Amino acid sequence: LANTFQGDGEPLIASLALSGIAFAASFAMIRWLGPTLMKAGLKGTDMSKVNKREIPECMGGVVAVVYLLVIIVFIPFPFYKDIVAATSGGGNRDVVVTVVEQVERGRLLHKFPHGKLASYLSAIISLQSITLLGIGDDLFDIRWRHKFFIPAFASIPLLVVYFVDFGVTSIVVPIPLQPYLGELVNVGALYYVYMAGVAIFSPNSINILAGINGIEVSQSIVIAVLLAINDCLYLLTPYPHPATDSHLFSLYFLLPFLGVSGALLWHNWYPARVFVGDTYCYFAGMVFVVVSILGHFSKTLILLLIPQIFNFCYSVPQLFGLVPCPRHRLPRFNARTGLLEPSVTPWTGERQPKAPIAWGLKVLGTLRLLRVTLDEEGRFVETTNFTILNLWLVWRGPLREDRLALEITAMQTVVGLFGLFVRHGLAQLIFKE
Ligand code: UD1
Ligand code: MG
Repeated sequence: LANTFQGDGEPLIASLALSGIAFAASFAMIRWLGPTLMKAGLKGTDMSKVNKREIPECMGGVVAVVYLLVIIVFIPFPFYKDIVAATSGGGNRDVVVTVVEQVERGRLLHKFPHGKLASYLSAIISLQSITLLGIGDDLFDIRWRHKFFIPAFASIPLLVVYFVDFGVTSIVVPIPLQPYLGELVNVGALYYVYMAGVAIFSPNSINILAGINGIEVSQSIVIAVLLAINDCLYLLTPYPHPATDSHLFSLYFLLPFLGVSGALLWHNWYPARVFVGDTYCYFAGMVFVVVSILGHFSKTLILLLIPQIFNFCYSVPQLFGLVPCPRHRLPRFNARTGLLEPSVTPWTGERQPKAPIAWGLKVLGTLRLLRVTLDEEGRFVETTNFTILNLWLVWRGPLREDRLALEITAMQTVVGLFGLFVRHGLAQLIFKE
């Protein structure tokens, strides 16, 4: 495997091995720490079950810590050869070092890829910050409008390194528009706003596509696997690709992520024995941001987040208060059938939508993008909550919880594969490689 990749495959083998260790360590920690988290009050009620048990929450915090430790242990591996080169030739310390030797050492030290190390360290700082903030949220239930911007702070180290190392703020113009705009357009500071926007969006969008057993982890695993496939497509090209290094970097961060997520999914899949907490959603989203910003493929990430983008856009009426948004919008469990049904916002008594909103709701209802229930006088009784999970249930009818998670995960996979196809097949038609 190592030889098929361009350049040096050894760190990749180490990364694979450490990812296995990350899986095993997370698996054990999840088992061991369940009662501890419960005792500390980090627990949640599984709402879609007949007997609503409390199970440990915030297991994402546990696996994020395992992940960070593994990534830290991994630091020497990709730099091993550079470290050896930069420190070799010293010989015996008792021997007086000649000026020539000193100059030579300085030259080698100068050749050390400090920029690459900076990318590494900044990625770790970002992921540590988001984990810290996520655990804070799980502990104190930070208000939605406050926690929304949390990831922007965590992305600052990445943006600084991006600025110092690459500083590329121009975007490639699609061929049909090139006569008017030229081949490249420099968008300057706006590019940083865009990257901070991606950093805010990715973690939050995973957090709101949530609420049924397994879905937070399974969607993240699909995205990570597709990003890893994307990396391999670059690494397996027969000629050395200029982006080899950034895609190796991406794999070093994604493989251990898949390791810890696998262990988490094992325990979080229906019927869940643990909840992942907001920490996991933020952490997963940030892993994608880290690899795609430092690897320069944030547009590919956007293609892989299409279901999340849809879920966010669809949620806008509730997120921005045009339609009342209850604390929980997860599907409603029908204890009689054991199946999930769309959860609803009731429009009881005096509470009726204003005219333009009522019109919009009815249009969505006609388009089968919402289930609208009216009484005989045409007054609103209830409308389903605006999440892709509820919409799926409107389309498909009541489903068992694991069935719904499976179907949404399959949809994410199909849409993501299509995204990659667009990126690698169609992109050549509108962008010159
Ligand atoms: C987000 C959603 C909210 C959804 C919630 C579910 C928005 C704006 N917010 O809120 O609508 O209800 O996620 O995670 O869209 N739970 C289950 N089964 C599961 C997972 C979670 O019953 O498989 C329940 C548990 O009671 C758990 C709680 O959801 O304790 C966790 O909710 P939390 O992550 O705090 O909600 P938010 O992220 O704020
Ligand atoms: Mg959440």
